[in-house]
Amino acid sequence: MFDLHGETVAYDTENNKLVIIDQTKLPNETVVLSLGKKEEICTAIKELKLRGAPCIGVSAAIALSVLANESKQTDEDGFISEFLENCEYLLSSRPTAVNLFWAVEEMKKVLFSCKGENLDNIKKALQVKALQIHGDDIECCKRIGEYGARLLENKSAVLTHCNAGRLACVKYGTALAPIYIAKENGHNLKVYADETRPLLQGARLTCYELNEAGIDTTLICDNMASYVMKNKLVDAVLVGADRIAANGDTANKIGTSGVAILAQHYSIPFYVCAPVSTFDKNTLTGDDIKIEMRSPDEVTEMHYQKRMAPDGVSALNPAFDVTDADLITAFITDKGVFSACEINKIL
Ligand code: MRU
Repeated sequence: MFDLHGETVAYDTENNKLVIIDQTKLPNETVVLSLGKKEEICTAIKELKLRGAPCIGVSAAIALSVLANESKQTDEDGFISEFLENCEYLLSSRPTAVNLFWAVEEMKKVLFSCKGENLDNIKKALQVKALQIHGDDIECCKRIGEYGARLLENKSAVLTHCNAGRLACVKYGTALAPIYIAKENGHNLKVYADETRPLLQGARLTCYELNEAGIDTTLICDNMASYVMKNKLVDAVLVGADRIAANGDTANKIGTSGVAILAQHYSIPFYVCAPVSTFDKNTLTGDDIKIEMRSPDEVTEMHYQKRMAPDGVSALNPAFDVTDADLITAFITDKGVFSACEINKIL
């Protein structure tokens, strides 16, 4: 079996497969999947077997290279139109995280820059790009961790929402990277992890990876954040992002905006950690961000032995919400720390 070496997603170039950890099975089982068909890759994204904005982007880049290598097309036009169909197919999986769209664009740029070359060279260039996107994600997250760890030097406990750790990226994560880097520097922060209903990314994934890394972690239900803040148990909030509009409005896992409102009320700094690729200059404000709506069953049935709500009752299930820019103390990025007013410096 392919060894992921502690990473969440990898490119098995020998067998031409996208390799992932099935995150729906965590924390009870570690199941590694090797995927090569576009249908199974798309399903893995939709079903959150692979999830988290950067992880989805990196996986899409690898998927496009895997599919290109599998192509039976013999002429350039056929190859290009098949490639573009694969792009559209992958883009239809989830609408909110910009990293998917960003990674697909990066791969398209490589394809078009190689136009006129033989198909083997184009496939090679796509593979090199996918591996580069994979490697860059690790580097970006490490830098976010370094900038964030500096900001947290005088802090002792943080609250986080959803999973923006290594499982949402390739390694380190975004919001959890400062915690990992602080630990490497000898500074042990305590973490309060919101469970993050309905799919429990906080309880299942954040708690799993922090616990594995030996970080002092306490799980709280989503409705306990106010208690934790009021009782001065945390002195900063760190979250990730799925898409950051040009004005700083930030889409992230449902529940994030409520945490930001609470943090402002209790004067606790609220930091959004994200690579520059999560900033979307084409989306002017949060109102322009498409929010993914998911099945009501995830609220009423998943994670319960029996349906927990009366039959006939429907449930609303938006996967993300938008935190207004003025609630965000700063963005911790791979290029440094910026306020919402300074975003134009990195767009
Ligand atoms: O639905 P998910 O689990 O893909 O949502 C993930 C999040 O909202 C994360 O906080 C976000 O992608 C940032 S990950 C570094």
